[in-house]
Amino acid sequence: MIFWRVKPLDQILENAEKKSLKRQLGALQLTMLGIGAIIGTGIFVLTAEAAQKAGPGMMVAFVIAAVVCGLAALAYAELASMVPVSGSAYTYTYAVLGEALAWIVGWALVLEYAVAAGAVAVGWSGYVNGLMNAANMGLPAFLQTGPYDGGGFNLLACLISLVITGLLVIGTSKSAWVNAVLVTIKIAALIAFVVIAVPAAKAPNFEPFLPTGWGTPMGGIGVLGAAASIFFAYVGFDAVSTAAEETKNPNRNIPIGLIGSLAVCTVFYLLVGYGAVGADGAQPMYDAAGTLLEPGSEALAAACANSSMLVCSKEPLAHVLRSLDHNTVAYLVGMAASLALPSVILMMIYGQTRIFFVMSRDGLLPAVCSKVHPTFHTPHIITMLTGVVVSLFAAMFPVGILADVSNSGTLFAFIMVAIGVMILRRTQPGRARPFRTPLVWLVCPLAVAGCVLLFVNLSAKALTVFAVWSVIGLALYAAYGMRNSELARRQ
Ligand code: ALA
Repeated sequence: MIFWRVKPLDQILENAEKKSLKRQLGALQLTMLGIGAIIGTGIFVLTAEAAQKAGPGMMVAFVIAAVVCGLAALAYAELASMVPVSGSAYTYTYAVLGEALAWIVGWALVLEYAVAAGAVAVGWSGYVNGLMNAANMGLPAFLQTGPYDGGGFNLLACLISLVITGLLVIGTSKSAWVNAVLVTIKIAALIAFVVIAVPAAKAPNFEPFLPTGWGTPMGGIGVLGAAASIFFAYVGFDAVSTAAEETKNPNRNIPIGLIGSLAVCTVFYLLVGYGAVGADGAQPMYDAAGTLLEPGSEALAAACANSSMLVCSKEPLAHVLRSLDHNTVAYLVGMAASLALPSVILMMIYGQTRIFFVMSRDGLLPAVCSKVHPTFHTPHIITMLTGVVVSLFAAMFPVGILADVSNSGTLFAFIMVAIGVMILRRTQPGRARPFRTPLVWLVCPLAVAGCVLLFVNLSAKALTVFAVWSVIGLALYAAYGMRNSELARRQ
């Protein structure tokens, strides 16, 4: 029954008018927000993890993940331009596939945004702890990493999440300005890396190219396992669509922001991936019996203790530069990552709060979540709540598992969006589409197939968390949302 409780598009647009946020973002600002959300821990930190999973074949993983994201972005842009209101995949699913699936998507997006924010905070703390240790000002080991990572409480990751939350409570425009400066810094860092590493590439570093093969479903290794993880590096472009209600001329600017930011990042990633492999090699580590060591495992950490291989580095880009004797640039790249990764955390927490905001406006979450601050015009209560939860994730869990869990939610949401585009083309062919997905009957099925391929190649651990999370979500929906939703009350 509940599956046919679909929210008509016109009603979604009309609702958005009632409780709206201030429209203040333009195309450039939006593209900057997109880049701010995309370039982060994925390229700066997870490159080493991808190398452990796939060796030099991680370059192929970068390409596969880029193609899947590109296809998904084309689908996203159509829905985002048709329904330029906050909430991204959640809102679109509500309009097309019904309330129950919309709730599941919204619930999965918590993995995408909140868990990703935690992952990036942990990646950031690794760089900052590294710089502080080098300056002999390091925190006690217990406070440098979480309990599953050899420490006890990741203090810096926790603190940065709370500071970012404060910025978001104060207001979007100030946060967007800070974001623009930080985006510039990390682009400069990637350019410096590419300019040094790419010309230093040597043919022998690409051999053997596929030491771990293509991977097996739920195995989390091989080229496809690496692609499923490195997908995290591209996630974030869809955060642009969560800002739809705060965007001027969203029909034009949202597609520009989505596709423009993804395109810029893809070019950089492919160059960085090539430079890292070519300049330093990227062969994985094996145990004495010749078995691949699991990324993020204690066994790998132990094997890495006296190794200078790329896969062992917590700051792989700086590591490559040091191996090329560019110590100063390596230090500056480390500084840039430390300064700029917070912009990713900002976009992730921002995206999360806007999704909660819309879900609350729809009655699926309590009304207090969509309360807007009288002076700052931001949904301050849900922002603070989200920030506290993110800071706890960040304090407790390691970066790799957070990234993989986040990917499971994102891939699920992307699948729903691509399906939604196809259904709307059939059911509402006459509706205005300021941006039309090109070759929709090819692009959308491929987007679904690509996302499913990456999803099944995530590790069994990440997929289990996803399954448990979905069951909890359905129970909550049955207990609250199903009865309290705006649509239910109108019926
Ligand atoms: N794409 C973002 C990152 O790499 C989430 O950190």
